[in-house]
Amino acid sequence: MLLRLLTFLVLTSAITAQNFKFAVMSDSRGRYNGVNEPVLSALTKDLVLKHTDVKFLFFPGDMVDGNKYVPEKTVKELEYWKKVMEPVYKSNMLFPKIWVTVGNHEIQHRDDEKNFVKSFPNTFMNGPDDEKGTTYYFDHDKTRFVVLNTNRWYYGDPEDTTDDRRDWHYFKHLDWLENVLKEARESEEIKHIFVIGHDMFFPTGGHLRDALPFIGMNYTGGELDSTRQWFFNQCQSMWSLLVKYNVVAYFAGHEHLYSRQTVDGVYQIITGSAGAPIYYHNSKFGDNPEKKRPGQELTYDEALPYYKLLGYNYGPEGNAQKSNDFVGLRAFHYSVIEVTGDKFYVKTYGLPVKEGTQSEPESFEIRLLDEFEIQAKK
Ligand SMILES: [Fe+2]
Repeated sequence: MLLRLLTFLVLTSAITAQNFKFAVMSDSRGRYNGVNEPVLSALTKDLVLKHTDVKFLFFPGDMVDGNKYVPEKTVKELEYWKKVMEPVYKSNMLFPKIWVTVGNHEIQHRDDEKNFVKSFPNTFMNGPDDEKGTTYYFDHDKTRFVVLNTNRWYYGDPEDTTDDRRDWHYFKHLDWLENVLKEARESEEIKHIFVIGHDMFFPTGGHLRDALPFIGMNYTGGELDSTRQWFFNQCQSMWSLLVKYNVVAYFAGHEHLYSRQTVDGVYQIITGSAGAPIYYHNSKFGDNPEKKRPGQELTYDEALPYYKLLGYNYGPEGNAQKSNDFVGLRAFHYSVIEVTGDKFYVKTYGLPVKEGTQSEPESFEIRLLDEFEIQAKK
């Protein structure tokens, strides 16, 4: 009888269990054909060798330098990037193995969007009409993954290319996003939701001025102008959707750093350098050097109006971030997430970078840098 019961329990847990792993890395641009080949290659090989049970990898943008004037150059850089990523493409991950979307570096010319989709044709074409192939979603083992394009191109009048411009740092289709999240929440088949995009909601260092809040480069306080207020509102409305529909975590790149924090119960995890030069996190109280360190965006005094507007913890006791549970590292890295029925285990591996440098690792041995767990919500 006991043996029968044990057999039943084992079988039942096998049926209901949804243990699987996925990985995230981002921002690998650099000086070898637009790619930081040595770092990206080292991280990629490590991921494939040490985590043979990872099912797929997300890579949300700034894979390459890109080019404002010569779109063919960007295409070549993307081809080179794929070559560097060969260990993943040759691994036993599930097809298409790497799920990508654009960062600002991939969208600098009017031909870039269509070229990008041609370079990565194996994404789902279920996004909004004008973002097919760069905004999409799919379900894997009771988990919905939503990948968003936060850096678009504005074509304006198709007859008039002079009104063309980059259209960066926001997600346009909030109605589409809400439908996809709502449908997942109402479905018996989906338990967890993850969202992935290039730009972050709560900048942590390097893009305080130009991420989804998109406050602009020279904000010194006071009311935002109507354009900036529109971006700010769009960002807040989008975050409210992630909170409303109980998203587990939002993964971003854009800032060349690692960080994690919870805001309104949702994790924002930045896995932002698989090779791009490492930044510094937001300057804290008293951090006003005469000469900024390479990779330091703003001094504390310059950043203070942004902290106030964004509701960050400022002042002598503040961590200069949105949340008190903020954890940040200056390191080249990738993260592996294990999904179980009721918990997620997030582990980040990589190479910390020496103080005062942007690319010089403390050692060349890739190691575990951070681990934490998240409770499931449904
Ligand atoms: Fe970026």
